[in-house]
Amino acid sequence: MFPERFLFGTATASYQIEGAVHEDGRGPSIWDTFSHTPGNVAHADTGDIACDHYHRLEEDLDLMASLGMDAYRFSLAWPRIQPSGRAPANPAGLAFYDRLVDGLLARGIHPVVTLYHWDLPQALQDAGGWADRDTAAAFADYAAVAGEALGDRVQMWTTLNEPWCSAFLGHGSGVHAPGITDPVTALRAAHHLNLAHGLALQALRARVRADAQFSVALNLHVVRPDRADDAGDVDAARQIDAVGNRIFLDPMLAGAYPDDLLADTATVTDWSFVHDGDLARIHQPLEAIGVNYYSTSRVRRWDGVGSNNHSAGHNTSTASPWPGAASVQFLPQPGPYTEMGWNIDPSGLYELLMRMHREHPQQWLLVTENGAAFADAVTMSDGHPVVHDPDRIDYLRRHLAVVQQARDDGADVRGYFAWSLLDNFEWAYGYDKRFGLVRVDFDTLARTPKDSALWYSRLARSRTLR
Ligand code: FCB
Repeated sequence: MFPERFLFGTATASYQIEGAVHEDGRGPSIWDTFSHTPGNVAHADTGDIACDHYHRLEEDLDLMASLGMDAYRFSLAWPRIQPSGRAPANPAGLAFYDRLVDGLLARGIHPVVTLYHWDLPQALQDAGGWADRDTAAAFADYAAVAGEALGDRVQMWTTLNEPWCSAFLGHGSGVHAPGITDPVTALRAAHHLNLAHGLALQALRARVRADAQFSVALNLHVVRPDRADDAGDVDAARQIDAVGNRIFLDPMLAGAYPDDLLADTATVTDWSFVHDGDLARIHQPLEAIGVNYYSTSRVRRWDGVGSNNHSAGHNTSTASPWPGAASVQFLPQPGPYTEMGWNIDPSGLYELLMRMHREHPQQWLLVTENGAAFADAVTMSDGHPVVHDPDRIDYLRRHLAVVQQARDDGADVRGYFAWSLLDNFEWAYGYDKRFGLVRVDFDTLARTPKDSALWYSRLARSRTLR
C-alpha cells in the first residue's frame, strides 16, 4: 500500500503542451526559434499549437480531477511571464498561471511548479543565453516574480528541469535548443544553470509561504560498466557519472565540483567561469531531489577502433554531449525497448532512489518523471475511441513496484509523477512519440484517456498496486 499522503500525479512542460505562442504578450523562446528552423525537429513540428492547453485549461483540469490525481507537476513559461526575459512582468502571462493554480487547488490537486523546463526567452539567448553569467541573475529575478505571484498558494517548487539536457544537449550535441555544439560552452552553461538554481532558491525562499519545499529535477544517469571487472570500463562509468550526475549534485548539495570532473575536463577548460563565491551561492538548502528516470546506459573504455557511439538517451548526434569523455563508448542495451528506443529496466530506478537515499539523506525524494512512449492504436468501442496500451501499464506498474520497494528499504520517496498527462510535443521528435496517459488527437485536439490513465486512476484511489 502507498500511504494516503504519497502523491500520485502527472507531469507536463509548458512548451510541450500550451501552444498559444503569440497570445497575451508571450515572447518567443529558444524552442520557438529552434523548432522553426528547418532540420531540427521531425516533420518540422513546432509547439505553436501543441495540445492547445492554454485554451483548454478547464477541460484539462477537469480531466485530472476525474482521474483522481493528487498532484500536478507543470512548468511556467518564462517568456509568458517576462516576454523579453527581464522586467517588467506580463500580467496576462501571470494570470494564466493564477487560473491554473487556483483551478488545481479548487479540485484538491497539489500544484508542483517547475520554473524552467527549457523555454528560455529568445531575447536572453540573443544576449548569450546560458553561456552568459547574466542569465543566472535574470533567472533569479524571474524566480522572484513567480514567487511573488504564486508563492502564497504554491507549496512545492522545482527550480530547473534536467539541467543536463539544457547544458549538454543544448550546447554540446546541439540536438536541443539553442543547438550549439561546443564542449566548453556546454560546461559554462552547466555552471550558469547551477548558479541560476542557487540564486533562484534565495529569491524564492524570501518571497513564498514559510512551509514551501524546494527541489530540482535531475535526469540522473544510471551508467553501468560493461565489464564490471575491467578497470577501463569502470572508469568510463565514473566519468559519465561525473559529467552527467555529480556536476549538478555536488555543487548543489555539497558546494563543490567533483575533483575527478575537473581533472577529466582540464584539457578543454580551466573552469575560470566559476567565480569566487559561486559555490556558496549554488549550495542553498534544498528539501527534495526530483528524479526523472527512463532507462539505463552501459559503457566501455573505447579503444579508438571503429566509430564511437555517443548516444545515450534522447537523440543521437555526431557531436558528443559528454565533454572530457571522448574515450567512453556507449553500448546498445538489451531490450525490451520503448518507442524511443530506450531500454526498459526498472532496476535502474531502484538503484537511483537507493543511491540518493544513501548519499543525500537530508533530502527526500520525488520521482518527478517516469513513463514510456509506445505506438498506441485507437479503436472504437460502442462508438467511442479507446486506446488499449498494456505495454505502458506494464511499464508504469513495474517502475511503481520498485518505488514501493525503495520505500520499504528506507528511501523517503514521497510522490510519483507519470510522464505525461497528455501526448505532447516531444522536443526534437515532434508529435511522433506519445508519452501521454491521455491520447491527444492532433487534428481535433480531442482528449481520450488511455487504459493506462484508467489504471493509474484506480491506483491513485486505491493506493494499491495491482
Ligand atoms: C525528459 C523531459 C521531458 C520529456 C521526457 C520524455 O527528458 O524532461 O520533457 O521530454 O524526457
